[in-house]
Amino acid sequence: MNVIICKDKKAVAKEAYRIVRDRVMNGRAKVLGLPTGTTPEGLYAELVKGYKKGEIDFSDVHTFNLDEYIGLDPKDPQSYRNFMDKHLFDHVNIKKANVDFLDGLTGDIDRECARYEEAIVSLGGIKLQVVGIGRDGHIGFNEPGTSLTSRTHMITLAQSTITDNANLFFGGDEDKVPRWALSMGVGTVLDSDEVLMIAFGANKADAIHGMLEGPITSMNTSSALQLHPNVTVVLDEAAASKLKYRDYYHRIAPGNEEAMLKFLAAARKKAGRR
Ligand code: F6R
Repeated sequence: MNVIICKDKKAVAKEAYRIVRDRVMNGRAKVLGLPTGTTPEGLYAELVKGYKKGEIDFSDVHTFNLDEYIGLDPKDPQSYRNFMDKHLFDHVNIKKANVDFLDGLTGDIDRECARYEEAIVSLGGIKLQVVGIGRDGHIGFNEPGTSLTSRTHMITLAQSTITDNANLFFGGDEDKVPRWALSMGVGTVLDSDEVLMIAFGANKADAIHGMLEGPITSMNTSSALQLHPNVTVVLDEAAASKLKYRDYYHRIAPGNEEAMLKFLAAARKKAGRR
């Protein structure tokens, strides 16, 4: 995994923006997987700014969001769909028909989950999946104990997730947080061509340590990303504070490959190889 450690959350958002813009504009990522929550707010603000400056165009971008609460109407102010409209979709030139979302009011959960998986496949799969991470290591709403091969499914939220989301989005009232959600599975996330994980804050440091340096375990579903060949993790100093190998991550940061190629070219020249 590529690990990029930034000074603060503003720098995390800018770095994540650079990656998303690059993949969208070079045509490699026209199908995006997106998260909600406090983590991507800075990225979405940068995407809106970038769109207004003409740096990024969403006209042929398709999106799938990771998850949605069960029982909330898309228009509900606390729904993830509403969050996305407010922070991104209403401010850029994405076609609303190209936005696919899990229906938290579906009358047939199995069918809705199967529909989502099929819709992703019908567009050739997710090219760039952006994810945040929960304090318990969840990606999407894949709480500890979720199968690392899971597909889109219904999940019961863990207490720490209910507490965090109550504080962030429901005015601290845990009773208002739905206990269940629909979420892409860990296997669904692993099927994407590339994953971009973003995280900041000291409360994510244990989960990040587990994801990067712990064993692969369903007790921290983000650790399954160790099995994915193309993951970039963008962190601030606080989220990276429990990493043991941070010096090494700096060593393999962007620019490393160019340095290696320069070194190799010089060595080949010295050895008389063409
Ligand atoms: C949300 C999602 C979750 C969040 C995670 C972190 O769509 O998939 O995994 O990324 O709960 O939430 P925040 O960013 O609010 O700390």
